[in-house]
Amino acid sequence: MENSKVNIGLFGFGTVGEGLYNILKTDSKYCFRNICVKNENKKRSVDISNILSTRSRIINNSNINLIVELIDDCVVSYEIVKSSLLKGKNVVSANKKMIAYNLKEIINLQKDNGGTLLYEASSCGSIPIIKCLEESYGTSIESISGIFNGSSNYILSKLFSEDIDYEYALNLAQERGFAESNPLSDVGGFDSLYKLVIISYHAFGVIANPDDICVFGISNIRIDDVKFAKKHGCKIKLIASSRIIDNKICMSVFPKLIPSSNDLYSVENEYNAVLIDGKYFDNHYLSGKGAGAKPTSAAVISDIVSISKGYRYSNCKIDESLKLSNDFILRIYLRFNCIKDIAAFNFVDTIEIFNGSATNYIIGDIYISDLLLLKKIIEDNDLFIMSLEDVNL
Ligand SMILES: NC(=O)c1ccc[n+]([C@@H]2O[C@H](COP(=O)([O-])OP(=O)(O)OC[C@H]3O[C@@H](n4cnc5c(N)ncnc54)[C@H](OP(=O)(O)O)[C@@H]3O)[C@@H](O)[C@H]2O)c1
Repeated sequence: MENSKVNIGLFGFGTVGEGLYNILKTDSKYCFRNICVKNENKKRSVDISNILSTRSRIINNSNINLIVELIDDCVVSYEIVKSSLLKGKNVVSANKKMIAYNLKEIINLQKDNGGTLLYEASSCGSIPIIKCLEESYGTSIESISGIFNGSSNYILSKLFSEDIDYEYALNLAQERGFAESNPLSDVGGFDSLYKLVIISYHAFGVIANPDDICVFGISNIRIDDVKFAKKHGCKIKLIASSRIIDNKICMSVFPKLIPSSNDLYSVENEYNAVLIDGKYFDNHYLSGKGAGAKPTSAAVISDIVSISKGYRYSNCKIDESLKLSNDFILRIYLRFNCIKDIAAFNFVDTIEIFNGSATNYIIGDIYISDLLLLKKIIEDNDLFIMSLEDVNL
């Protein structure tokens, strides 16, 4: 494809699709041959003539040499990616959920049919984390962690800077366009989880099932939890992390108490950040805008340019022997309403139980595998859990 025009078949004309179109439409190297959306008749803010809703007309069009998949439905997204790769076409996608759940299939489809799939925009918006992990690290990484979701980081920033409650902060995030009308994927930690699965694959070669990973979000956070963090000179951030311990990998998404000495402490609003710890280099830190039309389009464009030059992920780190383990002890803070809420918690060690007039909490050590089983109790009873892994309490 190098030096020749890139004839794009674009799927999706929402925040990212339209953002990409607006950036590339006047660049003579690129032509949007067709744009496929769900509803052809929807009123668009941009006047586009070549819009359609029949997928196969794009995938079977031999004049289209690149499929750019930017839709919000992960099942249809996989169907588009699969049928494009089966035809040996090159594809760029931003769909983190689709990629996280279908990593193995996607790798095999490329191997068997020759097409390439790149997906930098799926993880941490404008931060070139996937290419960075592919190109620069080999197998020297020991852990990778960070703030992977801009919406929840925006909400947490507001909670700490403006003394408002969670519902108000969520409304602000929705008004500013940082959180969707159904924010569950962002505030429930799932968006971070999908990115963690993708990033961990490129860091360690692990292919993990998202459903096996312990995920807690921020939707139960209350002002008392913020006060607790402030009292200890910390902030609360939603942290996704993967760590190699004894030839196993421990992956999780937790709200976490972050001290001011940690680089992630000052990552605010819609920004994302990634910390990479390695055997020989201590740590590296990358930060940038994690979402939005332009930052996400920047990552899509970087993939379009790379794919035009013949770039593909090497998939050489795959390590089927590296298994996910939840058999690790974590120190947590658990805010509860009444003592029966914590009856089912099997703490290995209890450090503090606080019963106040306004709030109750327990600090203790517990197996992550036990927390997985307690997820429903935590959610149903409005308990808030956070990791104290990075602090000395
Ligand atoms: N927004 C961000 O900041 C961001 C950042 C990183 C990654 N991403 C990822 O990028 C992708 C797109 O996100 P977005 O925010 O741009 O979504 P969006 O604003 O909700 O737009 C989704 C688009 O997909 C189209 N669509 C839905 N189902 C379709 C189908 N079955 N066939 C054809 N088109 C279909 C919709 O068509 P209609 O217009 O007709 O409804 C719409 O144009 C998602 O995978 C998202 O996770 C987004």
